[in-house]
Amino acid sequence: MFELVQKNILVTGANGQLGSEIRRIADVHEDNFRFFFTDVDTLDITDLKAIDHFIKENKIKYIINCAAYTAVDKAEDDAELCYKINRDAVINLGISATNNAAKIIHVSTDYVFDGTNTRPYIETDPVNPKSVYGKSKQEAESSLMDACADSIVIRTAWLYSIFGNNFVKTMIKLGQERDTLNVVADQTGTPTNAADLAKAIIKILDHSEAYDFKAGIYHYSNEGVTTWYDFTLAIHKDAGITSCKVSPITTDQYPTKAARPQYSVLDKTKIKTTFGITIPNWEESLNICVRELLS
Ligand SMILES: NC(=O)c1ccc[n+]([C@@H]2O[C@H](COP(=O)([O-])OP(=O)(O)OC[C@H]3O[C@@H](n4cnc5c(N)ncnc54)[C@H](OP(=O)(O)O)[C@@H]3O)[C@@H](O)[C@H]2O)c1
Repeated sequence: MFELVQKNILVTGANGQLGSEIRRIADVHEDNFRFFFTDVDTLDITDLKAIDHFIKENKIKYIINCAAYTAVDKAEDDAELCYKINRDAVINLGISATNNAAKIIHVSTDYVFDGTNTRPYIETDPVNPKSVYGKSKQEAESSLMDACADSIVIRTAWLYSIFGNNFVKTMIKLGQERDTLNVVADQTGTPTNAADLAKAIIKILDHSEAYDFKAGIYHYSNEGVTTWYDFTLAIHKDAGITSCKVSPITTDQYPTKAARPQYSVLDKTKIKTTFGITIPNWEESLNICVRELLS
């Protein structure tokens, strides 16, 4: 007879897009992992004492930090709160993890880059964030790794899901309501279905249990490359929207408070080879999400 030992996992920000996708697949993995899903109402990550107590009390072995301040434009006028959640709280999570022998998987962003690359960004490319949000996330990356040697930082991009508010849902709504729509066509990147990222994170946990914890920075998005304009055309095609004419515009024609990277395609070689992760193409994953949204 051998005893089944579940590893306790704390998921913060679990009511957001990514946290909700992890919640959806958690029960499939309950032989190995016992998940504790929390959000700001039950565990505020800026409350160091509460975090420390929770980790101790529940013998947490891994923390998956999905909590974040994600209102990119609002952050330009709300820098204090953005840094408090995206940087200071993350450092505290790291300190608490170290004190309690826990490991962290933290999620970061393509906005740590300035977008001037002409080939996909690798993990060691220089960072140069152009927005308060990007800076807050970038400063968290290095400080977290100083605070907790057992940290994995996954930079992702253009995240969407059936949960929460996101570009896919907005474009479906606008496509159904309007006859015309202008969408930026000179920003290039790759969308990420949060359901795919959730599966990748579980795969990393499985790998860490079977082998060892491979701390470091990794990139994850879906495969392929597109623009917001072409992404919108694909969303409308999948949603069967034919009555809305979508026109390409430039970034200058659609000014936003926070600057976005012009180019933010991420090279995923490291995460694929380290953890044996297979990544679906963005069009395939988009189709799955749109079908689910409209079902
Ligand atoms: N969305 C994107 O396009 C994108 C792109 C690249 C990287 N990322 C990164 O990916 C990660 C997941 O993003 P997401 O889209 O899933 O975010 P999300 O949907 O905005 O979810 C974040 C969650 O964190 C919660 N939260 C905020 N402050 C908190 C606090 N002090 N304590 C605990 N929870 C708190 C939020 O609650 P409230 O809603 O009540 O504030 C929300 O439920 C984030 O690290 C984000 O920076 C996102």
